[in-house]
Amino acid sequence: MARPKIALIGAGQIGGTLAHLAAIKELGDVVMFDIAEGTPQGKALDIAESGPAEGFDAVLKGTNDYADIAGADVCIVTAGVPRKPGMSRDDLLGINLKVMKSVGEGIKAHAPNAFVICITNPLDAMVWALREFSGLPREKVCGMAGVLDSARFRHFLSVEFGVSMKDVTAFVLGGHGDTMVPLVRYSTVGGIPLPDLIEMGWTSQEKLDAIVQRTRDGGAEIVGLLKTGSAFYAPATSAIEMAEAYLKDQKRVLPCAAYVDGALGLNGLYVGAPTVIGANGIEKIIDIKLNRDEQAMFQKSVDAVKGLVEACKGIDPSLA
Ligand code: APR
Repeated sequence: MARPKIALIGAGQIGGTLAHLAAIKELGDVVMFDIAEGTPQGKALDIAESGPAEGFDAVLKGTNDYADIAGADVCIVTAGVPRKPGMSRDDLLGINLKVMKSVGEGIKAHAPNAFVICITNPLDAMVWALREFSGLPREKVCGMAGVLDSARFRHFLSVEFGVSMKDVTAFVLGGHGDTMVPLVRYSTVGGIPLPDLIEMGWTSQEKLDAIVQRTRDGGAEIVGLLKTGSAFYAPATSAIEMAEAYLKDQKRVLPCAAYVDGALGLNGLYVGAPTVIGANGIEKIIDIKLNRDEQAMFQKSVDAVKGLVEACKGIDPSLA
């Protein structure tokens, strides 16, 4: 059986890391596309040359021609510009919306059967726009944010509790922005919900509140340190987890930016939600019950995403 084909649209910091991880994990053959001449070719060759020492079997190719993504099983989109210090994800809207138009048209023409994972920010609005421009089925187009946000939450919690990250689960809901909703009640250490751990005296409400805020600001913290771009290792790893769930039909329960219609009180919006990812793409949205405070936070996040979608329609009337 032929190896799966993974197309990476954007061969920058995240794109390069995605290619490296996909090759090391032998998820399939990799095509890296970028408008910058030489960059995807150079990165693909560099990673291919690590194959003998690493011991993987995967073909890597770099290209500036959309025709080379033909028949891709998975497309991961990072094309666009990242944040610089002082910028919010929303500041990227106008520039990256234009990029989504060309990427959506490229995917529509050459890889209409792919499972598409968008990483470009501002995430929730860009996934929506990419779906509109590509015309692919909604269950085949999603965005990577929740896996990253919950990984950051899990990392901070594991440090606070002094336990393995493997034994910490965390749930993050809503848009990938300042209004994201880390769900403390549904997050656990060894299966014990965080509120119980406060009662047991293992941590305090103040410490937990600080961790929640640090999770919300997780992207900005990295931008502030790097100064010339935004995070790329953890975002790439998170998207690879989603791609693997699709390619191997794992039915993973993962939070991601998905089209929610008839769950969580929403009627047709791309926003971060708990999903099941398998061979059919986003196979299910998990309609969890929220308490009043959580619902209020989620609503704020939903409103922020709706505002960005409206802004996209204002910029590009073909989306209205
Ligand atoms: N088509 C294809 N590639 C493009 C296009 C386009 N229209 N416009 C820009 N690119 C490419 C750039 O040439 C660059 O190689 O996208 C790549 C982006 O890479 P980086 O600038 O290194 O950005 P990266 O850190 O990978 O982040 C990409 O993901 O997390 C988000 O906010 C982040 O929106 C940003 C995206």
